[in-house]
Amino acid sequence: MSAEVHSAAPAKRALDEDPDHDAVAAERHAAMKRQANEEEKQMVEASASKVKHVDIHPNDEELRADTSPLPKSTSTLQFSPGLHLAPMVRIGSLPTRLLSLRYGADLVWSPEIVDRAIFGCDRTVDEKSGLVAFSREGKHIFTTHPVERQRVIFQLGSASPQWAYQAISFVTANDDVAGVDLNCGCPKPFSTIGGMGAGLLSTPDLLCDVLRAMRRAAPAHVSVSCKIRLLPTKEATQALVRQIIRTGTIDALTVHCRTKDMRPRQPALPHRLQEVIDVVQEETAGELPLILNGDAWDAPEARRLMKQTGVQAVMMARGPEGNASSFRSDGGVLSVASVVAPQWVRLALSLDNQPGNTKYCLNSMAFKATSSVSPNAKPLQPPPGLPRDTKQKMVEIRQGLAKSKTVEDLARALGVDPDEQKKIPIDEVLREVREAIERSSSSKEGNDSGTEMSEKPAA
Ligand SMILES: Cc1cc2nc3c(=O)[nH]c(=O)nc-3n(C[C@H](O)[C@H](O)[C@H](O)COP(=O)(O)O)c2cc1C
Repeated sequence: MSAEVHSAAPAKRALDEDPDHDAVAAERHAAMKRQANEEEKQMVEASASKVKHVDIHPNDEELRADTSPLPKSTSTLQFSPGLHLAPMVRIGSLPTRLLSLRYGADLVWSPEIVDRAIFGCDRTVDEKSGLVAFSREGKHIFTTHPVERQRVIFQLGSASPQWAYQAISFVTANDDVAGVDLNCGCPKPFSTIGGMGAGLLSTPDLLCDVLRAMRRAAPAHVSVSCKIRLLPTKEATQALVRQIIRTGTIDALTVHCRTKDMRPRQPALPHRLQEVIDVVQEETAGELPLILNGDAWDAPEARRLMKQTGVQAVMMARGPEGNASSFRSDGGVLSVASVVAPQWVRLALSLDNQPGNTKYCLNSMAFKATSSVSPNAKPLQPPPGLPRDTKQKMVEIRQGLAKSKTVEDLARALGVDPDEQKKIPIDEVLREVREAIERSSSSKEGNDSGTEMSEKPAA
């Protein structure tokens, strides 16, 4: 598995900008990131080595030889207008997705999961919580819950039509996800070495074969989409987008407005989206939903980017990584320390989120007293009924999180009683997520953009 952005992660930036920041904390954070990368790499290699000699059908040759018409999508997912949660390795685990939906995300992408890592997992459903877990050797590779089923897109890492076919057949067999997406943008070496991620940008024929395999594997009502980066020139980007659209496989296209060689700290290039818009116009009369990604840190900035570019759908990554309430449409971003992180850990406790992932995600959040993760953000709203967070509180929470060994320790560091939380029935735990989804569904039925939707509850 892969992760595109590490150096500019909000938690790290928050530390950099915080006068209390000490070199030890920054080093601890960097070590966590290194360890996470290493674990992901090992997981992919281990999964791949277990299955690489299996003789599977249809294989690449058979898939390429199949000239029967591709099944047509009947997906009714609304990609545009919309404000969506971007795929993020590790960060986009179930609690992040559910909290994003609660705060107003329209669709949520899973972390990228490599074809051979998901294929051959055991799929189990927990009777009490309803949690659906795809696991291998006791380790969750992907978890989801029926509450997000109409809104979750599973993102695949693949550079092999046959493995993509197997992985997508497997993950869609029980109707657990609404859509599947191909990652064509990750520039991390362990993704591109296998030809996956941004590697696919230089092998467009293979990229299109993988999309065709995904379309053949997924049931018709499951959408197929892909996420690309810009290529160095307008001509190259346009040729790629044209070729992808002409496969007739995709229900939506996301463009991360950076090139493969650009660093996350370099400003994105939203003005270059016009070259993609032109091709979408020519090829589909503007019908294909186009999603802009890059440097939208919160809902107001997403709206500004929509106005600037004319597209009506935006996907955000680092904003919600730091603070899932970045999706709130006009009420301002809420305190991580007092509101968002406690909500996150409550979901983690009730939905068996793995301790390593829980600690990692909490440590990546923007524990800041006065502003959100956006460089232009306004001051945080004080927690409802509580005084503004103090610096002292931030320091204590960070120290508590650093010392924690279990999800229960992490909960206590955030003022949540783990035993009490586990007694709460799952319907009650998920009530506000469900209500937020219902509100956004009814505003869509009323032909209203989910992005401009009315304010979500604060806490
Ligand atoms: C922690 C992290 C993990 C990411 N993992 C993925 C991934 O699994 N798949 C993917 O297509 N992009 C991944 N990305 C890239 C984001 O989806 C997004 O394209 C990029 O961060 C730019 O959006 P932003 O400016 O809103 O952060 C990741 C980014 C971050 C910060």
